[in-house]
Amino acid sequence: MNENFQFKLIATDGKARRGEITMPRGTVRTPAFMPVGTGGTVKAMYMDQVRDLGADIILGNTYHLMLRPGAERVAKLGGLHDFARWPGPILTDSGGFQVMSLAQLRKLTESGVTFRSHIDGRAYEMTPERSIEIQGLLDSDIQMQLDECVALPSTPADIQRAMELSLRWAERCKAAFGNQPGKAMFGIVQGGDIADLRIRSAQALKNMDLKGYAVGGLAVGEPQEIMLEMLDATCPELPGDKPRYLMGVGTPDDILKSVARGIDMFDCVMPTRAGRHGLAFTRRGKVNLRNARHADDPRPLDEESTCPAARDYSRAYLHHLVKSGESLGAMLLTWNNLSYYQHLMQGIRSAIEAGNFNGFAGETQAAWEQGDI
Ligand code: GUN
Repeated sequence: MNENFQFKLIATDGKARRGEITMPRGTVRTPAFMPVGTGGTVKAMYMDQVRDLGADIILGNTYHLMLRPGAERVAKLGGLHDFARWPGPILTDSGGFQVMSLAQLRKLTESGVTFRSHIDGRAYEMTPERSIEIQGLLDSDIQMQLDECVALPSTPADIQRAMELSLRWAERCKAAFGNQPGKAMFGIVQGGDIADLRIRSAQALKNMDLKGYAVGGLAVGEPQEIMLEMLDATCPELPGDKPRYLMGVGTPDDILKSVARGIDMFDCVMPTRAGRHGLAFTRRGKVNLRNARHADDPRPLDEESTCPAARDYSRAYLHHLVKSGESLGAMLLTWNNLSYYQHLMQGIRSAIEAGNFNGFAGETQAAWEQGDI
């Protein structure tokens, strides 16, 4: 077992990178997609299914888990891995982003953010030190710095203020995290849609010599083109020998285009949330199972898939489940969607190794455009 946290590049193809993060709880093959397990569960999935689909790591949320069931309780019960029955690596987001989007009566100061729980109105304070403390109580393998992410559009002054605050919080998180050989604390690049601020943020974080770097503050209301421009500006400023994680992204198309720019890790609620709303991701693009055209269709979503949800159930049955609000509809479509995402990531990894990433991306996009027939 490897007691250290290490990142190694196995192959590159243009800017696309095929790598491996090793840590005591396991190895993460990159580019990687991390299924979102916000409150200690990847919604509508058993952890065994998530693992069998090929996910090496899942994401948990500091904000949700601190409110319910509470980080101290999870620690007493042996940590998040035992609690949720996921023995592999877990990355936790720091809470800042979720506080800003979910909590009530938020007040942000230099020291941190105070807020009231969206569940029961209780008051909390989240500082960089408390965020790292909670992530430690959860026993998270990859911990994120507390940051401030502004929605886009925002004024340049607001974007700069949040970026600079996030840098000061990165220093405090780094000090609070200290030296933990088998674990990592990642910094988060901010800077909104202003390339110059992104570059300054990335350079300052690089100087802190962290074990990994995230790009935050994207997919927050801006067009894809702007997100890609920001990646073009940011990635070259980050060290080549550390993992790069694009937070909260994205669609399969976002993932292909971001891998092409040098991103190694992704997380997004899209496959799980869309699954619970009747939307399936397939090789031939998205299929909305709520649509009446599926009511009499005996074909599966994808006869060539290895995932039973995609291969063994008729569209007519899936349509019926979704229309009836049955739990099984959400379960099968989430299974299908996470299967599609993990299959895409495996395809990406193999293509980079084979030096055929552009060819793979082009064929994959052409198949989506061909549509569902
Ligand atoms: N999830 C998606 N975007 C962000 C971000 O900018 N910061 C954090 N902490 N989490 C995110």
